[in-house]
Amino acid sequence: MTDYATKSYGRVEEVAAIYRHFTANRDVSMAGPRRLGKTFVLDRLAEAAGGLGWVAVKVEVGGCGDSRAFFRSLCNGIEGSRSGGRRAIAWIQQRLGQIIDPRSDSSGQWYQPLISLDHESYFERLIKALNDDHERRWALLIDELPIFLKALHDQGPEGVVAARNFMNLSSRLRAAYPRVRWMITGSIGLEPLARAGDYMGVLAKFETFDLQPLSKTQAKEFVKDIAQEGRLLYRQTITDAEAEALVAAVGWRAAYYLEALAKKLSGEPCDDPNGAKKLVDEAVQQLLSPAEATTFGVWEEHLRKHYRDNQGAIAFAALTALSKTGDGLSIDALLAAIGRNDVTRAELRALLTRLHVEGFITMSDWDGDDPTAAFLNPLLRLWWKRFQPQAAA
Ligand SMILES: Nc1ncnc2c1ncn2[C@@H]1O[C@H](COP(=O)(O)OP(=O)(O)OP(=O)(O)O)[C@@H](O)[C@H]1O
Ligand SMILES: [Mg+2]
Repeated sequence: MTDYATKSYGRVEEVAAIYRHFTANRDVSMAGPRRLGKTFVLDRLAEAAGGLGWVAVKVEVGGCGDSRAFFRSLCNGIEGSRSGGRRAIAWIQQRLGQIIDPRSDSSGQWYQPLISLDHESYFERLIKALNDDHERRWALLIDELPIFLKALHDQGPEGVVAARNFMNLSSRLRAAYPRVRWMITGSIGLEPLARAGDYMGVLAKFETFDLQPLSKTQAKEFVKDIAQEGRLLYRQTITDAEAEALVAAVGWRAAYYLEALAKKLSGEPCDDPNGAKKLVDEAVQQLLSPAEATTFGVWEEHLRKHYRDNQGAIAFAALTALSKTGDGLSIDALLAAIGRNDVTRAELRALLTRLHVEGFITMSDWDGDDPTAAFLNPLLRLWWKRFQPQAAA
């Protein structure tokens, strides 16, 4: 296992900054595109917790369909938490008192009686128990909250009410049990959901943390390290010149794409910049082969899942148009390129804003007359250009 705490790319500074927020009683919201490394940061937070007197419980809630499932994930997370573990559960069980009768439920999960009854009030008792813990402090790291809320919204008006109730409940718990810290992450924007569901006020109380891609230096060290750790098929070393060329080709320096491209690097290690660039160009071609669809397919899937009807179709058309140029297109040029007279400039602009927030594109000069949109991830652009995924019929 890599000890990330000793690595330049191990997000040590980010982890320290987030714990400073926690210690100052600030809850944190970390938005960021798919594959940026959000979940990685949560894992590092959980690892670092013990040494700092915290227990950090990571819960993935993207797959939860209702607040009961959310609660179940949280209980599972507490059980699996690296720094709290068994001792903490025993303590919580004791705090929750008579609810759990050890004789009645030896085969099931310790929290089964909680969720089969009124799960909201037990959720509250659980948070209260964490709040009252004076030996350690608790942080709840909630991964992909907006996807959970989105799933509720997609269930129709009742789901929207459920999402609002859930957010209001969490808001009330945060106020009532202020020693427990909350951190949320998301790869789809929370604001549009909060606006539709009328819970913007809840979000205002989170401190936003802007996770950035790796720096060039970190990215170079990362690709060299994974070669040395034996994580690449064809290489045990990557030269400085190759690392430089890899990092340049990846452009958007997320570890995920650095590793994906490094895995395709083959041939004898090469110290010369031109030779290195040639090897990296070949690796890019390998990465763009149809067999590699999963490396990029997550973006296509993201649009299909989260962009409704017309929005999806326009997004696919806009991205296909943008994929054909490395320099990007102005909104007006893009409007002409997608060639749909049912789309207004204002609608396209709103859609581009969302694609920007979700990391598909980057917009330059928002305040200018005609800002320019371009793919954020140059490898994704090349993939899109080659395969031109379409909106579902
Ligand atoms: N700083 C890093 N150092 C090493 N590996 C990393 C780093 N950041 C991310 N990774 C690896 O890259 C992959 C993608 O990262 P991660 O799952 O954290 O992204 P994410 O932002 O949560 O993506 P998604 O929105 O798809 O859930 C993972 O395999 C992760 O271990
Ligand atoms: Mg993630």
